Amino acid sequence: MLDTEVRELMQSFVLSDYQVQEVYSRFYAEISKGLKRSTNSQATTKCFPTYVQDLPTGDEIGKYLALDLGGTNFRVLLVSLKGHHDALVEFQTYAVPKDLMVGPGVDLFDHIAECLAKFVAKHDMKNAYLPLGFTFSFPCVQKGLKEAVLSRWTKGFKCPGVAGEDVGRLLHEAIQRRGDVEIAVVAILNDTTGTLMSCAHRNADCRVGIIVGTGCNACYVEHVDQVDLLDHEFKREKKQVIVNCEWGAFGEGGQLDFVRTEYDVTIDNKSINPAQQLFEKMTSGMYLGELVRLVLIRGLQKKAVFKLNPRREEFATILEENENIFETRHISEIESDTFPEFANTRRICKQLFGLEKATVEDCQKLKYVCECVSKRAATLVAIGASGLVNKTFDRKVVVGMDGSVYRYHPKFDEYIRETMHKLVKPDKTFDIMLSEDGSGRGAALVAAVASKTK
Ligand code: BGC
Repeated sequence: MLDTEVRELMQSFVLSDYQVQEVYSRFYAEISKGLKRSTNSQATTKCFPTYVQDLPTGDEIGKYLALDLGGTNFRVLLVSLKGHHDALVEFQTYAVPKDLMVGPGVDLFDHIAECLAKFVAKHDMKNAYLPLGFTFSFPCVQKGLKEAVLSRWTKGFKCPGVAGEDVGRLLHEAIQRRGDVEIAVVAILNDTTGTLMSCAHRNADCRVGIIVGTGCNACYVEHVDQVDLLDHEFKREKKQVIVNCEWGAFGEGGQLDFVRTEYDVTIDNKSINPAQQLFEKMTSGMYLGELVRLVLIRGLQKKAVFKLNPRREEFATILEENENIFETRHISEIESDTFPEFANTRRICKQLFGLEKATVEDCQKLKYVCECVSKRAATLVAIGASGLVNKTFDRKVVVGMDGSVYRYHPKFDEYIRETMHKLVKPDKTFDIMLSEDGSGRGAALVAAVASKTK
C-alpha cells in the first residue's frame, strides 16, 4: 500500500472529474476561437488550414522523397506507394547536433540539403527528379501546400532567421547553393497531417491525427465552412480541409493555470521558450522525464520517497545537479515493471543514481510518481482528442496516433481511451490507430494527392 506522503506529493497531478470537464470546455472553446477569423488573433490554438483537402484512397502509386525534421532526429526517406493501401519506406537517420538546433537557420538548412544530397547519391537517384514532401513539425502559417511560414520554434529549436520566413524557400535556396541535386518540393506538412494521412491510407474513417512525442499536437478534418481562414477559392470544389490545431500552445492565455503545478511553472521558467507551449510542456516527451525529476527532488525533501534509503542524500544531490538526467523513456520502462521484481526500476536507480538497494516500497513509489505524471499527460491528450472527435461531422471516427511517448509507454493508449470514453459524445464511436511512419508515408501521400489534384 502506498502511504499518504507520496499520495499527497502527487495530489496536484491527479485531475478531478470537474477539472477534466473544465479543461475540456476551455479547450473546445479555444478551438472554435482559432477557427474564426474575428477571434483567431486571441486564440492560443491557431488552427492553421493545411491546404490538404483530399484524403488518400489507398490507390496512390509512385516514388517520393520525404524529409522529416522536428523530432529527436532528422530523416531522409524514399517512399514507394504501391497501391492497395501499401507502401515501402526506406530511410536514413541523421543526428541534428545541438549547436545546429540553436545556430543560424542557414546552417540548419544547409545541413538538411547536405543529408538530402548524400541520400540521393547513395540511392543513385541524382537524375530521378522525384517529388519531395517536407515534414516540418513546427507551427507554420501555410499559404498553400508549398508555402509554410514558420510562426515560432518549439521543442528546443531556436535558429535565428527562420521565424517569419517560408521554410520551403529556405530549403530550396539551400539545395540551390549546393547545386548538386535537383529536387521539386511539392508539399510542406506538419507531422500530425502526415499521421492522419498515413492512417487514412489504411483506414477510411481516420479524421484526426495526433503526435505525442518530443512535442505534442493534433490536426483534424474540418468542414470548409467552419474554417474562416481558408480562402474562398478553396471552398468551391472541396468541402473539407485538414486543420493543424497547434494545441501545444493551449494554456498560454491562462486556461490551464488552475491545473498547472509548481513543477510545470519551473519547467516553463527554465525552458528556452518561457510562457509558450504550456499544454505541450505538460504532455510531451521533451518534458515528462524532467517533471519526474523535479517531483523526486521535492519528494526527497519531504521524505515522501526513498525515506529509509541510506544513500538518499547523495541521490538528492545527483538529482539536483543533473537536469534532464531522468528521461521520458525511463518513465515508460518503470511503468512496464511488475511487482515485486521491478527489474527496470532497479536498473535505472542503479545506472542513473548509483542506488543499489532500492526496496520494493521505494520502487512502488517511484512507479507511482511516474504513473501520475504520465496519466495526467494522457488525460490531457484525451481531452483534446475527444474535443476534436466531437467536432467532426462523422459518427464513426478513427484517431491516428504516433510519437515516442504514445508508442513506447505501456499504458498511454489505455489511459487515453479511459478518458475519451467519458468525454466523446454518446452518439459517436471512436477508435485509436497507431500510425505507421506518418512523417514519411504521410509526406509521400500529401505529395501524391497534390499531384493528383493538379
Ligand atoms: C509543434 C507541432 C508538432 C508537434 C509534434 C510541436 O512542438 O509545434 O507543429 O506537430 O510538436 O511534433
